[in-house]
Amino acid sequence: MQTVILGIETSCDETSAAVVINGTKIMSNIIASQIPVHQKYGGVVPEIASRKHVELITSVIAQALDEAGITFQDVDAVAVTYGPGLVGALLVGVSAAKALAYTLDLPLVGVNHIESHIYANFLANPGLNFPMVCLVVSGGHTDIVYLAGHGEYKLMGRTRDDAAGEAFDKVARAVGLGYPGGPLIDKLAVSGNPQAIDFPRVYLDGDSLDFSFSGLKSSALNYLNKAAMKGLEVNKADLAASFQQAVVDVLVNKAVSCAEKNKVETILMAGGVAANSKLRQQLVDVAGKMGINIAYPPLVLCTDNAAMVGCAGFYKYVRGATAPLTLNAVASLKLGVDKY
Ligand code: KG4
Ligand code: ZN
Repeated sequence: MQTVILGIETSCDETSAAVVINGTKIMSNIIASQIPVHQKYGGVVPEIASRKHVELITSVIAQALDEAGITFQDVDAVAVTYGPGLVGALLVGVSAAKALAYTLDLPLVGVNHIESHIYANFLANPGLNFPMVCLVVSGGHTDIVYLAGHGEYKLMGRTRDDAAGEAFDKVARAVGLGYPGGPLIDKLAVSGNPQAIDFPRVYLDGDSLDFSFSGLKSSALNYLNKAAMKGLEVNKADLAASFQQAVVDVLVNKAVSCAEKNKVETILMAGGVAANSKLRQQLVDVAGKMGINIAYPPLVLCTDNAAMVGCAGFYKYVRGATAPLTLNAVASLKLGVDKY
């Protein structure tokens, strides 16, 4: 028996639709990125994102079916991201999914965006064993989540201010690198010295698993301002490498200590910042020495895409967690707490 899920993702600046079979086989994963549209503003403009989603959603869904070689009649359920994210952007995907579910008489599955980032791991590795710890690092989130089983989440730590990706983007912008900054810092850091500038590592009180990146971000911005005032030229590669190292040290330290404390053998990585080469390498090195396995999705499944929605949607669908047609976008949706 195969279950065909049509996944839809519009939570931020990618309009995406995918066809996924049994939560593992990606038949198509169309991602229409709006990055070039937002680049000139240095970040995502919510109103423009919503309008672009409206323009793109119908053709992106049609392309996803086409590339998968199926029609609407072959779809078993429609899964859609309904939060967290930009409310206007989310509404476009939610409205499209509801229209399809209603007209085709199909079950509707509401998926949490963080949950779908976590499930990108199951697309790559369906044989993963619970319990696990997942480090979710994106432009909007930095969370450590304990996974007891499918759909069973416990938030162990979260950022108290900036998300890791947000800090990458803001520092990149200050250095004049453009948007999105994470991949550009990652690339530039390769030729820099990570020990050149001693940026702060904020571990917070006791053995807290929470994060704080605003101090580090300010420290990098101050460094740039001071140099500009003194007329000194900044070695951008050294700054990128030192900033990245400070972020990575804290992320790795907390993810590994959470796994150790909870006697978990596998750490997953999820979200756009999980594409960071230094983070992947250091987490694999540190955890490997402690006998902890690391899993992460391929690069294309780290950033926003609908295949991960199709995967998370499949697991929700098979456990009967479908949503009513009154489903609405929830900008600040919490992980593990559906709000229908
Ligand atoms: O998960 P995502 O596509 O969207 C959100 O849900 O936020 O993550 C986007 C974030 C951006 O902040 C981007 O700069 C960051 O992920 N990112 C990276 C890398 N690739 C993307 N950060 C560091 N290194 C990377 N290689
Ligand atoms: Zn995301």
